[in-house]
Amino acid sequence: MAKDHWSANKYSSAAGFVPKLTTKVISYLDVQPNDRILDLGCGDGVLTTQIAQTASQGEVLGLDASESFIKSAQQQYASSNCTFKHQDCTKLDQCAEAVDGSWDKVFSNAAMHWILRNPDIRTPYFDNVNKALKPAGKFVFEMGGNGNVAEVQAAATAALLHAGVPLEKARAANPWFFPSTEHMSGLLSNAELEVELCEHEYRSTKLTADTDDKSGGLEGWFIEVVPEDRQGGVVKEICDVLTPIMTRHEDGSKWMGYTRLRAVARKK
Ligand SMILES: C[S@@+](CC[C@H](N)C(=O)[O-])C[C@H]1O[C@@H](n2cnc3c(N)ncnc32)[C@H](O)[C@@H]1O
Repeated sequence: MAKDHWSANKYSSAAGFVPKLTTKVISYLDVQPNDRILDLGCGDGVLTTQIAQTASQGEVLGLDASESFIKSAQQQYASSNCTFKHQDCTKLDQCAEAVDGSWDKVFSNAAMHWILRNPDIRTPYFDNVNKALKPAGKFVFEMGGNGNVAEVQAAATAALLHAGVPLEKARAANPWFFPSTEHMSGLLSNAELEVELCEHEYRSTKLTADTDDKSGGLEGWFIEVVPEDRQGGVVKEICDVLTPIMTRHEDGSKWMGYTRLRAVARKK
């Protein structure tokens, strides 16, 4: 399994906005009191526990590949109807309780652009989501869409090139999968998941961070992009390039060019 870069404390300070900007996807999930819901890439469990509070007579299981997140989620949020398990979701079929066809809903927020980075696992991933769901069960998710954080990707590629990383390697260091709605609809349909909605939204997003962090928490974005021995210089260059682009003149607040892809698909 890949190195665990996640930390619950750092995540809530640098990217705490992620679970907060979920009104739309949560409304699509339409949690019912008896729902059994699987949360793929649940992270620190903040959102999972909110879902479990509404599914008060049901059950919510959060899965994540980060041991650090799962440990923190178990300590802070585990309850009688909300549990967490360490699991690489690219291998969901290895988790018998996930793929047993018993779940009313499968949910994922801000995780599938990580989970689906390897093209070879996309077909099995969606097949496994199908296996997890009851007949007519719903798969509801939000992830980065086509063009997401384009400015970050451009600055990161250039900084890696300047640090002597070959072009192909610099491009390959981009760790995310940001599909178009057309591409995602095709992947869902191929797995016998009927697409009820697949939408794309440009959502400029304000970064939150500790006040003494001049980059606005930007460093947290390059944890996977930059090889460890070059991180200092490369991260500084990326921040130097991006900070003025992201900073609003009127109040110094920092904004990132997010695009989101949201979808609702039903098992046939
Ligand atoms: C930006 S966080 C989102 C967490 C949470 N869903 C939220 O809304 O706050 C992305 C999460 O995806 C998880 N992740 C990345 N690759 C994964 C994989 N292959 N299997 C399971 N989780 C994965 C990371 O560990 C991380 O917790």
